[in-house]
Amino acid sequence: MISRRMFMRSVFGAGIGVLFAGSYGRFFEPRWVELNHIPIKIKDLPHRFEGITIAQLSDIHHCKYVPREFVRRCVRKVNALSPDIIVLTGDYVYDPSYRASTFLLPVADELAELKAKEGVFAVLGNHDNKDRTFSALSESGIHVLIDEHVALYRGKEYIFIAGVDDLWRGKMNLERTLKGTDDKPKILLAHNPDAIEMIKATDVDFVMAGHTHGGQVSLPLYGTPVVYSKFGARYAAGLFREGKTWMYVNKGIGISSFPVRFCARPEITLFTLTVKL
Ligand SMILES: [Fe+2]
Repeated sequence: MISRRMFMRSVFGAGIGVLFAGSYGRFFEPRWVELNHIPIKIKDLPHRFEGITIAQLSDIHHCKYVPREFVRRCVRKVNALSPDIIVLTGDYVYDPSYRASTFLLPVADELAELKAKEGVFAVLGNHDNKDRTFSALSESGIHVLIDEHVALYRGKEYIFIAGVDDLWRGKMNLERTLKGTDDKPKILLAHNPDAIEMIKATDVDFVMAGHTHGGQVSLPLYGTPVVYSKFGARYAAGLFREGKTWMYVNKGIGISSFPVRFCARPEITLFTLTVKL
């Protein structure tokens, strides 16, 4: 039989544990950025693109819980990687109803400092006002892709970089996005990984997505209780293969709904593309 003293000690110990986990999830982990290096093999990648690097930053959600100084620190981390290309996969603010001067323009000013030899490309997410975000990012020198693609040249060789409108908030149109492309490799930016359901029927080689925040909270022995996806936790984070298409789901650097991260650290990803023989 457990004594009253032992019971009180257990309650006290559990209380300390909850307090520690809460403080860690609220104040420490949301600023503890991990850097993931992911190699991606692409069939028929042109010789001149062998080893090209792409840095991905996602789901910034600039708000009072994701301060401008933290965004600046992440931008510096990305620049320190000296990537050939930088991609941004949506959700630049948490609440798009605020005046642009409160969060959108400041985050766009920070993103204007991103430096990539062959360009910075972006798509919009479900927390982004389409017109205001398009103009704020465009004025920061960022190429926003809404159901369109560009050809990226090295000499006479080229690959395609495409971006779709958001699956939830926008009017994603894959056919329009890829119209005019040929059989050269295609890299696609899509905020919401649920879009893979449609993308896997195309000849897109590699998709970079965000949106899920890795669930934001992942409990030991349980997993991620909340993932905003119709597939549950299936595409919460990491690298997936669907048909001939690779998809990487980045956990993002910001937070939404609740200002906590637990076992779902914020993430910057650096991809290196190599040819698949
Ligand atoms: Fe998000």
